[in-house]
Amino acid sequence: MKNIAVIYKSKYGTTKRYAEWIAEELDAALIEESKVKISQLQSYDLVIFGGGLYASGILGVKLVTENPCKNLIVFTVGCAKPEITDFSNILKKNFTPELLEKIKVFHLRGGIDYKKLGLIDKGMMAMMRKMIMQKDEKEKDSEYEAFLETYGNKVDFTDKGTIEPIVKFAKEMVER
Ligand SMILES: Cc1cc2nc3c(=O)[nH]c(=O)nc-3n(C[C@H](O)[C@H](O)[C@H](O)COP(=O)(O)O)c2cc1C
Repeated sequence: MKNIAVIYKSKYGTTKRYAEWIAEELDAALIEESKVKISQLQSYDLVIFGGGLYASGILGVKLVTENPCKNLIVFTVGCAKPEITDFSNILKKNFTPELLEKIKVFHLRGGIDYKKLGLIDKGMMAMMRKMIMQKDEKEKDSEYEAFLETYGNKVDFTDKGTIEPIVKFAKEMVER
């Protein structure tokens, strides 16, 4: 079996949960982003990096966008429904076009518990809500609707079954 590392950065735990599931399925090393030594990255045949989505940024992703890996898969974890979300801006913001050609990116759905949010995060979500509420009805697309549906609540959309395409892709990649 090839040498695989699942590296993650998570603020409230949902990305960590997915990283644990993926590492278990692939019998891979599981490492928190802050504990990774940059010189270590190249020693893995495949790095799978997972980061929570925060205002379209992928938490901690610079570790793998600024340092080369032999093979790279990235997964994002956000509240938005992956089936109806347009991730093109997120991809543009976090990766160069050259890197995007070489890697594979997956999107998973996390969750949120407004009671557990830090003050700054709570404030950001309140601002986001205000911004959406000010939009014209016709501008409020399904992504915004999904945000408003979950606003203020505790929701958990984490689903082990959704890691399957990542596990399958990773297995094919290392067998190549
Ligand atoms: C301040 C803030 C900004 C967020 N921005 C986004 C976003 O741009 N897109 C998205 O899908 N989810 C967004 N979310 C939701 C988180 O991505 C979601 O809660 C995710 O599961 C968090 O991952 P973690 O538990 O690993 O930290 C945001 C949450 C907070 C608190």
